[in-house]
Parts: sequence; C-alpha cells; structure tokens
Amino acid sequence: MAQMTMNMTGMDMQTLFRPIRPDLEAFDRRMTQCLRSDSTLISAVARHILASRGKRLRPALMFLLARSSGRYSRLLLDVAQAIELIHTATLLHDDVVDESDFRRGQDTVNARWTNLVSVLMGDFLFTRAFRVLVETDSPDLIKAISAATQRVSYGELRQIEEVGNYNLSEAEYIRIISDKTASLFSISCESGAILKKAPPTVRKRFRDLGENVGIAFQIADDLLDYVGKSDTIGKPPGADLQQGKVTIPLIYALSRVSRKTRAEMMRLLVRPIPKSAANRILAFVFEQGGIEYGYRTARGYADRAAAVVASFPRNKYSLALQGLVEFSVARNK
Ligand code: IPE
Ligand code: MG
Ligand code: MG
Repeated sequence: MAQMTMNMTGMDMQTLFRPIRPDLEAFDRRMTQCLRSDSTLISAVARHILASRGKRLRPALMFLLARSSGRYSRLLLDVAQAIELIHTATLLHDDVVDESDFRRGQDTVNARWTNLVSVLMGDFLFTRAFRVLVETDSPDLIKAISAATQRVSYGELRQIEEVGNYNLSEAEYIRIISDKTASLFSISCESGAILKKAPPTVRKRFRDLGENVGIAFQIADDLLDYVGKSDTIGKPPGADLQQGKVTIPLIYALSRVSRKTRAEMMRLLVRPIPKSAANRILAFVFEQGGIEYGYRTARGYADRAAAVVASFPRNKYSLALQGLVEFSVARNK
C-alpha cells in the first residue's frame, strides 16, 4: 500500500494541483521574494531551503478548500505564505531536536551549517511569518494562527517528554501528532472561512477537515519511517525507533502481546538499538499487524475528512481536494 504513487482517485500530485496552479505559482514567487536578504548567510540558507521545496500540501489544501467552497480571498496568499514560513521554521528547529541530517533529499541546514544557524534561521522565519500575518489586519486570523503555532511547539515538547515511554497510549500519541502536525493543516483549512467571516459552524467544519487530514498525514509519515525507502521519502527511515520515538505501529504491536513478550521487546528497546535487535523489533511490529493497523487508523481519519468534502458541490476544486485527502494516507513520500 505504501508503494502507491497514484492515489485512489487515480490522480497524481501534478494533476491534483492543476486547478490551483496560478495560486501555487504566485505562492512560490512570494516565498522566493520574502526570503531575499542583504545578508550573505541568510541568502545562502534561504537558497538552500528553496532548492528543495516541500510538497506544498498546506497551501494546496487552503486554496482548494477556499475555492471549492466559494470562500477564496486574495489575502489567502499572505496567509499561505505565513503558514509555510512557520512550517519551515518548525522543521529547522525539529531537525536540530531530532539531530537529522537529511530532509527532502538534501542535507539539513544543521548538517550543512550548524545547529546555531538552523535555530536562528528558524527564528528569523517565524518573525518573518508574523510580519506577513499582521499585514492581513485580521485579529481573528492572527489569533488562530498564533494558537496553532503554539500547538506545534507544545506537541514537539510533549513528544520529547514521551521519548522512551513504551507504555504511551494510542490516544496520547494521537493528541501529540494532532498538536505537532495537524494544527497547521487545520488552520490552513480554516483560514478561508475566517477571512470570509463564515459562521462558527462552518469554521469548525473546515478546521476539523484539516485536523483529520493532518492526523492521517502524520500517521502515514510515522508508517513511512517503518516501511519507506530513503530515496523516495527523502530522509532515512528507522529514525523514530532509534530515537525512542513511540508511534502507532509499535504502540499497537506492544498492546497485542502477553506481558512476557512485551517485557522481552522492552529489553531490546535500548538506545542505540543494535542492528540485530532493531531487525527483531521491526519483524515483531510487522508480524503483529502494526503497519496494517496504522494504515487502517489513518484511513479512518482521512474518511472523516473525505465525507466533508463529499458534501461540497462537485467541481474541479472539490475533486482535487478529494484526491489530496486520499494522498494524505496513500503516499509513498
Ligand atoms: C516534524 O516532525 C516536525 C513538526 C511536525 C514540527 P517529525 O520529526 O515527526 O517529522 P520528520 O520525520 O522530521 O519530517
Ligand atoms: Mg524530525
Ligand atoms: Mg521531530
């Protein structure tokens, strides 16, 4: 399932993005412009970041949802830019926290430069984002994006707090990934409704849609750490296990076995995990159905999001949105 390159709606990413291509092109130009600087260091780091842009899922979700529901506004371009800057800033910090040296198929900023540069460039992007945001002059939006950004930090801290806790419950795991990842998906979806002053029920529906896609996306991310290949996911798999990061496949596998087997596995879960022990744990997770369970769970969240999209009028935007929801689960990168 993880090897799929097309999603179930049969559309690849480029096809999904076609209806909003002008939006995304304007978004790309904005990103390049706003990272220009007189500083040679900042320019160099910015060039490096822009050289391997991400999947642009958050902006794509935002534009597709706003357009398919008749809630597009020009200010969304600023909002998309601000959210992408915040997202990129959190990755610069995350790669320091996780000691990662590879992302999106290239060296991370901390690997190419230093931890210091990565952290300070992250701060620079955060402040840049908030400058873009205040220009929108929308207190409701600023409030919601600040809250979402705080959720990201809270989730990252909670995750660190739970490193090595192999008794972590699935519910707690979901709460952590909701905060660290789904928060920005959620606000990306809600922004159009906020700017168009939609009633609270609509705001909530859009917010929940993004939250569900974000949870599905992060579960898939955590599954790719077990089943993905380095050249497709752009970062080395197996990192979570080595770092003591407990995610859904392991939580599920451990929940299924006897106390004795559980204790045996716990003895293998030391850090660093020697190669032979890591292979045994991997085999254990696969045998207990941890991967299938993870995909089933991700599918459940994606289905909830898809049900909301299905209630929208059928047009090229809502069709692509449906495809994007599907991609959050059935992706290989
Ligand atoms: C990404 O989290 C960072 C945030 C959500 C803030 P992870 O550490 O789980 O993801 P990767 O594997 O580095 O992309
Ligand atoms: Mg990381
Ligand atoms: Mg992390």
